[in-house]
Amino acid sequence: MAEKTMKNRRVLLFPFPFQGHINPMLELAAVLRSRSFSVTIFHTEYNYEAIHPSKYPSYRFITIPDRVSKLTSSSQDHVLSLICALNDNCTTPFRESLAQVLSEGDWKSSVPCLVLDMHWYKINPIAKLLGVPTLVLRTGSAASLNGFITLPALYRKGILPSKAEWELELAVEELPPMRVRDMIAVGNDPEQLLNFVVLDAENARTSLGIIINTSQAMEGAELDKLQRDLALPAFAVGPLHKHDMINLEAATTNTSPSSCTLKLLDRERDQDRLCMEWLDSHPPKSVLYVSFGSLASMDPKDFTEMAWGLADSSQPFLWVVRSGSVESVLRVELALPDGFRNATHGIGKIVEWAPQRDILAHRAIGGFWTHCGWNSTVESIAEGIPMICTPFFSDQMGNTRYVSDVWKVGLELRTPLERGKVERSVRRLMTTEDGEEMRARARDLQGMLSECIQKEGCSYKAVDDLVGLLLSLSP
Ligand code: UDX
Repeated sequence: MAEKTMKNRRVLLFPFPFQGHINPMLELAAVLRSRSFSVTIFHTEYNYEAIHPSKYPSYRFITIPDRVSKLTSSSQDHVLSLICALNDNCTTPFRESLAQVLSEGDWKSSVPCLVLDMHWYKINPIAKLLGVPTLVLRTGSAASLNGFITLPALYRKGILPSKAEWELELAVEELPPMRVRDMIAVGNDPEQLLNFVVLDAENARTSLGIIINTSQAMEGAELDKLQRDLALPAFAVGPLHKHDMINLEAATTNTSPSSCTLKLLDRERDQDRLCMEWLDSHPPKSVLYVSFGSLASMDPKDFTEMAWGLADSSQPFLWVVRSGSVESVLRVELALPDGFRNATHGIGKIVEWAPQRDILAHRAIGGFWTHCGWNSTVESIAEGIPMICTPFFSDQMGNTRYVSDVWKVGLELRTPLERGKVERSVRRLMTTEDGEEMRARARDLQGMLSECIQKEGCSYKAVDDLVGLLLSLSP
C-alpha cells in the first residue's frame, strides 16, 4: 500500500524558460516535494543556467533541445516571437522525451500528471496524445488572466486598440478597476498577440485546472470570475515561496554538484552575502530596493533620469542594473551617467543581480521601486513592503493598477521618467506620512497572506486540494 502511494506521488513539471516563470514553478516543485512527491522537471536549453539544476539534486532534470537564440531585445514583439519559436521547436523533442520517460519501468503502470506553464500551448496536446493529464501553471495574477481572456472581445468591440490619448483613461467595464491603458499593449503585430492569447487560454481550458500564484486575500473576486469564465477549478496557492517547506534534498540523494558548479554557486553566494552585509549596516526601513525584474529594458534617457532622481532624493538605495537593463548597453558602468557615482556620496549600492526575496525580507528595506512583474509584486507584499511602480509591458500595467488603486500599497510612476518626479516619488514613499500609510496597508496585506498559508488557510487548503486531485489521477 505504502509503495502504491509513493508510486502515485509523482509529478512532471515543465516551466517556461523565463526567470519570472521558472521561479514560481520551482517553488511549486518544492511545495509538492514537501508533500512527498517525486519531481521530474523538463527544461529547455534556452536559459538552462537560470534554473541551477545542481541546486536541486533530488529532482530529475530532462533537457529539451530548442534551437532558439537569445533575445536581442525585450520588446513585447520579440518576447512573443520567442514564445512562439519555443513552442514550435520544442514540440517534437518534448514528445520524444515524454515517451521515453513513460516507457521506463513502473511509470508505465502509473501515469503522472504534467504541470506545464500556460505559455506551453503546443505541449498540452502532445501530453494528451500520450495519455498524460495536465494542469496549467499561470505565473501572473488572476486579474491579468481575466484580462488576457477578455482581450479578443475588447478588440471585437473596438475598445482596443485605443486610437486617441484620452481613450487610455477610459474604464474597461468588463474588468474593473482596469482602464484601457492597463491592458496589454499591442505591438507591431496585433494578430500575433491575439492569436497567442487565444492559444494560451485554450491551453488552460483543455487542462484539468489552473494553479495560480495568488491568494483569495488578494484576488477573491478575480478568482471567482476566472473560475466562472473558464469553467475550471483554480488552485490559488500563493504566495508559493512562503509555504513552509521541509528540505528533503540531502536525505534523498547521492548526487553532488560538480566542482565547476560549486565555484559558480560560491561566487553567487559571495555576491549575495555582500548585499546583505551592506543592508545590515543600515537602519530599519531606510533603504529603497530598485529592480525591474529579469526582462525589462529601459530607454537610455529614462535610465539617466532615474539615476539622477535617485541621487537627488538622498535616500539610500540598492539598485539592480543587469546587463540588458538599458537598451543596447551590456555593461553597467557604461550605462551610468558621468559623475553619478561621485554625486551619490556612497549612499547607493549597484549590483548586477540580487537575492531579491532575502533583500525584501531584510529589516533595512523600506520600499521597492519595481516594474511590477507579478513575482516582484507578490514578493514585496509578502514582506509588507510598499512600492513605486514603473510598468513596461504585458501584465505589469494591470499589476500597477492593483498596487496603487485596489490594495493602495504603492504609487505609480510611469515612463517617460523625469528626475524631479523620480526624486519626489522616492521621498514620498520613503519619508512621508503618505508613504507610511502605504507601508501600514502593505503590512496588513502581508498579515493576511501569511494567514493564507497557515494550516486551514485558503492557500494551504488549495495545496491540499491540488494534492488530492493529483492523487486521484492514478488509482
Ligand atoms: C516576467 C514578466 O515580466 C512579468 O510581468 C510576469 O508576471 C512574469 O514574467 P520578470 O519581468 O522577470 O517576469 O519579473 P518578475 O515577475 O518580477 O520576476 C522576476 C523574478 O526574478 C522574481 O522572482 C525576482 O525575485 C527575481 N529576481 C529579479 C532576483 O532574484 N534578483 C534580481 O536581481 C531580479
